[in-house]
Amino acid sequence: MNTITAISSQTKSANRGMPALKKLRVALFGFGVVGSGVWNILEHKRAEFRKRFGVDIEVGGICVKNLEKERSVALPAGLVTNNIADLTQDNSIDVVIELIGGRYEALDIIESALEGRKHVITANKLVLSHELPRLRTRADRQGVNLFYSASVCGSVPVLRALDELLIGDEILSLRGIVNGSTNYILTLMDDGLVSYSDAIVQAKEKGFLEADPTLDVSGQDAGQKLSVLTYHAFRKHLLPSEIITNGIEAITSEKVQAAKEAGKVLKLIASASRDRKTGEILASVGVEALDKTHLFAHTRDEFNALEIQTRHAGPQLLYGKGAGSLPTASAVVSDLVELLREL
Ligand SMILES: NC(=O)c1ccc[n+]([C@@H]2O[C@H](COP(=O)([O-])OP(=O)(O)OC[C@H]3O[C@@H](n4cnc5c(N)ncnc54)[C@H](OP(=O)(O)O)[C@@H]3O)[C@@H](O)[C@H]2O)c1
Repeated sequence: MNTITAISSQTKSANRGMPALKKLRVALFGFGVVGSGVWNILEHKRAEFRKRFGVDIEVGGICVKNLEKERSVALPAGLVTNNIADLTQDNSIDVVIELIGGRYEALDIIESALEGRKHVITANKLVLSHELPRLRTRADRQGVNLFYSASVCGSVPVLRALDELLIGDEILSLRGIVNGSTNYILTLMDDGLVSYSDAIVQAKEKGFLEADPTLDVSGQDAGQKLSVLTYHAFRKHLLPSEIITNGIEAITSEKVQAAKEAGKVLKLIASASRDRKTGEILASVGVEALDKTHLFAHTRDEFNALEIQTRHAGPQLLYGKGAGSLPTASAVVSDLVELLREL
């Protein structure tokens, strides 16, 4: 880990009795839907964090793919590169926030950051679903933190809840809606407003869909999230290929309408539980027709809901926005805050 530098020793002597203000240098990889949201929140919160934690968060660099691209949020001048190594090899960077998505380039960024003893924050469930145990071990060995709250259920702190519950209880099962974009698509179709293909266009416009929408509509994105959830709930890593996964591609307006006439609502449900006899973890993703009075039937638009069944506390329900720029960015920033608390 890089030494977090005190901004100046003068600050300390000038403010006798006040601790020196520390500086935390952050590199932001990706300035898309989530990355630009993180930039906006950090700009807004910087003064508050300085006051509350005594740490000045400075964005030391931003890496994007296309420097010429037109953007709704302007790239801050002087901070931008399209060369990943400019930032992963920069020894003055303390924290890498990986928000480029995809698998192998993102994995390289995370691994080189850990190698350089930088803390890592990521929202990348694709990478985590394949590499989580190995990356956690690597971070531990390097003495740095690896945080990934935003990888599952966007703004909803489901992983923290599972970690807390597991301390004094036992998780029996998980079940819920963990993909905001497909839930948004199914909601539009259920309202009878649009066809499947028009709903996809609208979800894309809202920034809810992954760069490759196949990951969402095929159920793979939900499967990757379930892999991360399962690791936290049962301490068992399941590869996405070990999760029975079906998506919403075969859902038509006619099927949604037929379900509605039968008093049902179609939802993409992820679930995992431990088999009582074998101890095996069974996990799956697929469309279910739920009674219209079911709690999940009322989980609309890009919202997520997760029911956690525990041995002692019984059922717990977590609910909130599972996709979108600021909700997801807020989870990324909450990881940064957790890091600030530990400094
Ligand atoms: N969107 C959501 O609601 C949501 C919710 C939860 C989690 N996530 C996760 O958050 C991550 C980011 O998602 P997003 O929606 O923000 O993606 P996005 O809008 O497609 O943005 C991706 C960003 O990464 C940059 N990038 C891509 N490849 C790069 C490369 N090789 N080198 C440098 N920069 C590169 C892009 O640069 P350019 O701008 O130049 O193209 C862009 O700024 C993903 O892991 C996703 O699964 C997203």
